[in-house]
Amino acid sequence: MRIIESIAEMQQAGEGWRCEGKKIALVPTMGYLHEGHLELMRAIRSHGDVLVTSIFVNPAQFGPGEDFERYPRDLERDTRMANEAGTDIGFIPHVKEMYPEGYQTFVKVTEVTAPLCGRSRPAFFRGVATVVAKLFNIVRPHAAIFGEKDFQQLVTIRRMVQDLNMNIEIIGHPTVREADGLAMSSRNAYLTPEQRRKAVRLNRSLREAQTLVQKGEKTGEAILNKVREVLAEDDDVRIDYVQLCDPSTLQEVTRIAASTLLALAVHVGVARLIDNAILNPSA
Ligand code: PAF
Repeated sequence: MRIIESIAEMQQAGEGWRCEGKKIALVPTMGYLHEGHLELMRAIRSHGDVLVTSIFVNPAQFGPGEDFERYPRDLERDTRMANEAGTDIGFIPHVKEMYPEGYQTFVKVTEVTAPLCGRSRPAFFRGVATVVAKLFNIVRPHAAIFGEKDFQQLVTIRRMVQDLNMNIEIIGHPTVREADGLAMSSRNAYLTPEQRRKAVRLNRSLREAQTLVQKGEKTGEAILNKVREVLAEDDDVRIDYVQLCDPSTLQEVTRIAASTLLALAVHVGVARLIDNAILNPSA
């Protein structure tokens, strides 16, 4: 695996492969890689002749008081893992080159970023859309892949790509989970063993909701109550939101009449964890 740190070098390499008729696949990450990221690399491998994995902890998507400074980092381990998973190029730019002095341009996707995580993290999606647009301009990929755990992020990026006529295939990949169902996340590293045990409630609450819907429940409030009951707030567990919405517009729904996104964000200790499931009404 070749490491590229300079934006100009990455752009030149990308243009070069394009001229040779090669397809470029991109896995954008913030590093501290886990099996979920490796799955993304394996899944997109066949979409490109060259697989680029970017590793960049993007300051623009962290709000004041959030965890930018203490976000877990381990570049040595990341490069080894990315290499073993088939990455050809590790693109690891520097903050000073990505956001030099005088930087003032941002991408704002308006409607789909308003609900859910947009309420409690107002700067987040502007930062994500901006850095992903920059990575697309630098790497020049034909395809890029994102996990469905960050469902609203995936919807936001699809919207941006469509609205800004970026000719890039966006691939969504199902959430990769630990054996007990916890969605893989770099932020799971913040959990104490006790909190790690409690974190399993997130996925359990989604599965209980799915069971309820399979049994014929269609009322939103009944489903949300079941989720809240399983999440059982205590000193370590605090719900940010639990919500039902249309999976493409992210508009809130109160009845399960069609395929519906059940999304939640929960603080477990200092970690803010998100998860989601698609609920399909029984016939
Ligand atoms: O999902 C992430 O890790 C980040 O939000 C992304 C897409 C790499 C942008 O920084």
